[in-house]
Amino acid sequence: MIFRQLFESETSTYTYLLGDEETREAVLIDPVAAMVDRDLEVLEEHGLTLKYVLETHVHADHVAGDNTLRERTGCRVGVPEQSGVDCSDFKVREGEPVEVGGIRIEPLYTPGHTDDSHCYVVGDRVLTGDTLLIDGCGRTDFQNGSAGDLFESVRNKLFTLPEQTLVYPGHDYNFRHVSTIGQEKERNPRLGLSNDRADFLEIMANLDLPYPKRIDEAVPANKQCGRGNAA
Ligand SMILES: [Fe+2]
Repeated sequence: MIFRQLFESETSTYTYLLGDEETREAVLIDPVAAMVDRDLEVLEEHGLTLKYVLETHVHADHVAGDNTLRERTGCRVGVPEQSGVDCSDFKVREGEPVEVGGIRIEPLYTPGHTDDSHCYVVGDRVLTGDTLLIDGCGRTDFQNGSAGDLFESVRNKLFTLPEQTLVYPGHDYNFRHVSTIGQEKERNPRLGLSNDRADFLEIMANLDLPYPKRIDEAVPANKQCGRGNAA
């Protein structure tokens, strides 16, 4: 499998490219509108055809590249069914794997950061969106977020994956790239096994985060797959 972790520096967002070496089909997960040209260059560099774009959730911090990529490549866009969007070509659901050549992408429904959040398991890796970050997690104070749901999603779903599963997050603000389920269990300061549910709820209730800078632009645009805000 061809696997690339691509970075957008303004919002510290990771986009993932997965490509099948034989069929040369590819999928992009969480592409950013401002980085579509870069994404298309990487696809071309590897001789890949974009089959799908998948979203982990409706993002509040950046406008998605879905619609621009669909217009420019003819790919199909998959968005979680709970996102409530009607711009997608298909709905992402747990139990319904997405196949790209020989690559099997298994959606896991992990509400908490938002009520539509999904992670994607691909063999020995899991792409965690904003559900589980390295030494952290996404905030839970808007888009129907719920700290209790996030705790359950991480403990009952992500932490049941094998310890050596590689964790690829949707963001990192400190130039870290990858973790493992075992490492997050041991040292995640919010969700690690040394904390219980009450500890986690208290941490999340006291984060005191600023209102997200681009939420008023990004959420409405992303409800339309990034339409109208293409870079
Ligand atoms: Fe997010």
